[in-house]
Amino acid sequence: MPIPVRVKKIWVESNDKTLRTFDLEFVNEADAFNYMPGQFCQLSVPGKGEAPFGIASSPTEKGFLRFTVNRVRVVTTALHYLQEGEMIGIRGPLGNCYPVEKFRGQNVVIVSGGFALTTLRSLAVYLCDPANRGNYGDITLIYGARRPGLMIYRDELEEWERKGDIDMHLTIDERVEGWNGLVGFVPTVTKEIAPSSRDSWVVVCGPPIMIKYTLPVLTELGFPPEHIYTSLERRMKCGIGKCGRCNIGSKYVCIDGPIFSFADLQKIPEQI
Ligand SMILES: Cc1cc2nc3c(=O)[nH]c(=O)nc-3n(C[C@H](O)[C@H](O)[C@H](O)COP(=O)(O)OP(=O)(O)OC[C@H]3O[C@@H](n4cnc5c(N)ncnc54)[C@H](O)[C@@H]3O)c2cc1C
Ligand code: FES
Repeated sequence: MPIPVRVKKIWVESNDKTLRTFDLEFVNEADAFNYMPGQFCQLSVPGKGEAPFGIASSPTEKGFLRFTVNRVRVVTTALHYLQEGEMIGIRGPLGNCYPVEKFRGQNVVIVSGGFALTTLRSLAVYLCDPANRGNYGDITLIYGARRPGLMIYRDELEEWERKGDIDMHLTIDERVEGWNGLVGFVPTVTKEIAPSSRDSWVVVCGPPIMIKYTLPVLTELGFPPEHIYTSLERRMKCGIGKCGRCNIGSKYVCIDGPIFSFADLQKIPEQI
């Protein structure tokens, strides 16, 4: 059953207004749940329907759950029309999470494109939390968007650059005036930056085409398939392994995923 949550804060994330971020708060504190980076929830708008969204906040942040929503059709448009103070439903947390225990004592490389940065923001904030930062080595972020105005969490990206906690590499597809970062597609930039695969794990999320071309680059850089993780998106209905809507091979993305290692995906015939 969906739990009632109130929209605490909404802001437009991208210049073209297709991306909005929502901070939600539980109406009843007793409904609050624990979660880990990489998990997702089903958000429901009464009379419109329900859809899955990755949790963009980190469990180390208290008092809100954050989601960034790309406007597509019915449910996402209804979410975009919400006003602060309105109520929606939430089911979750669903799915598995990034294997942060395996990352302990190791370097973590985060590779992302477009608005897939959502759950990777959760991961980055979690790893950089003062209570956790000492447990991990170097953290590198390679993040690309088509244009600077389509980058999400821009204030936070600037703050991460300033703090120096994360080795940051921001890139856009084509040069535009006023842009001081890198220019080029994420796979090409990843190859140029060539993060070391020694004692390192990599998490890659983005549009399927970006993932497709980034995986061979990571392999070339020496990352073993067991050390490469990605998050899959499939059409979902129940989110709890009952309806069979989201399966790839023998796996259900909603309960066996959405996070899979490249080694696991290589064993699934219909992988990405
Ligand atoms: C685990 C998971 C995490 C997600 N996280 C986010 C997120 O953080 N932010 C975000 O904006 N979106 C996310 N999505 C995608 C989001 O669920 C869909 O965009 C949403 O369901 C579309 O709903 P709609 O009613 O607006 O459009 P619909 O009418 O349901 O769909 C519109 C179009 O999008 C396609 N589509 C719908 N759902 C998916 C899907 N899951 N994968 C691929 N194509 C789809 C449909 O085939 C159709 O062409 C996630 C999906 C999954 C499975
Ligand atoms: S969404 Fe129903 S089984 Fe995965």
